[in-house]
Amino acid sequence: MKYQLKINDSTYYFGQNDRTQRFFEHLYPLPNGMAYNNYLIKDEKNVLLDTVDVGLSERFFSQLDSALDGEPLHYLIVQHMEPDHSGSIGLLLRRHPEVTVVSNKKTKSMLEGYGVCPDKFMEVDEKTPLNIGSRELQFVFAPMVHWPEVMFTYDAKEKTLFSADAFGAFGAIDGGFWDEQHDLAAYLPEAHRYYTNIVGKYGSFVQRAIDKALKLDIEIIAPVHGVVWRKHIPEVLELYRKMATYEAEPGVVIVYGSMYGNTDELAEVIGRSLGAHGVNRVVLHHMGHSSVSQVISDVFRYKGVIIGSPTYNNGVWPNVQDALYQLAERNIPDRLYAVFGSGTWNPNTITPLEEWAEARKWTKVAESIKLSQAPSLEDKAAAWELGRLMAEAVLK
Ligand code: FEO
Repeated sequence: MKYQLKINDSTYYFGQNDRTQRFFEHLYPLPNGMAYNNYLIKDEKNVLLDTVDVGLSERFFSQLDSALDGEPLHYLIVQHMEPDHSGSIGLLLRRHPEVTVVSNKKTKSMLEGYGVCPDKFMEVDEKTPLNIGSRELQFVFAPMVHWPEVMFTYDAKEKTLFSADAFGAFGAIDGGFWDEQHDLAAYLPEAHRYYTNIVGKYGSFVQRAIDKALKLDIEIIAPVHGVVWRKHIPEVLELYRKMATYEAEPGVVIVYGSMYGNTDELAEVIGRSLGAHGVNRVVLHHMGHSSVSQVISDVFRYKGVIIGSPTYNNGVWPNVQDALYQLAERNIPDRLYAVFGSGTWNPNTITPLEEWAEARKWTKVAESIKLSQAPSLEDKAAAWELGRLMAEAVLK
């Protein structure tokens, strides 16, 4: 009995879980590891979609060999050149010299840049389907989801969209790979964090690609990370629509730092005030402890953002500064903001925090609070009022 998994009659699924990887791109925390998916379509011609990070290639080749069962591999479709999917192309070409690499013009030059020059390369575009026997595979270009060369592949016979990074998630996949085999309430937040961190900057590109793909008749969405979608396609499409349009929910994120607890005390008062004034989604991120990755996800999700920082070397506390740098990269528009800052002898963070938010064209909803030394009763009253004003604005 062979160990083989399929997503439909003709398509094999290979999913590699890496439970030891702690950071994706050495940047984004992976509390539950990461999954990398591959698919092999068997028809008159056998077609592999993408490869895998070179560190996972042993198991990948073993599963590929098992599914090919001695048959040749005719085509490798390269949907995305990031090395978590392209890293084993060189090894694959050595094991399967018969293969023709199929992709677009941008991919070809990237391949060569990574030192891979296939003997046989077929350049395709959206009007050039690939005939593999009983079906044609169609390509949907999806630039900037997540690199410029990305393309999706559509199999009309099986109504399956192979979606590259789109509709993926952080996390290894335990057990079954179908969406309905997982707790959606636990899964979607990691799909949200994955999208907002990895492709969040390119919302308009994502929207265009999804609009194109949605003209197709789709029963299965097969991404290169995470579960394979078939039951919960409406839910994941709705999630992507919201994320790509930066639509926000009525909640507030407080992003702040504190060295000795004084700025933290103000953050607590503001958070309590938000709750007392009817905001049911309040998240406090002390940047000495929270990951910027989660902050990015939460600022995508919620309408209000309150930023607080002690003064450090006459500027913003470094971990808050880093969070602001990474948030700015995502081009998140149309948020409501307020700021608070502290310092013992020269509190000096209000201005740079306000300037940062104004550069995003966000809307200020309350007077900024400048705290010297420990918070007084007046400072706490000002924090309570800031929370009230933000709650009023967010819930409007
Ligand atoms: Fe999973 Fe953009 O690579």
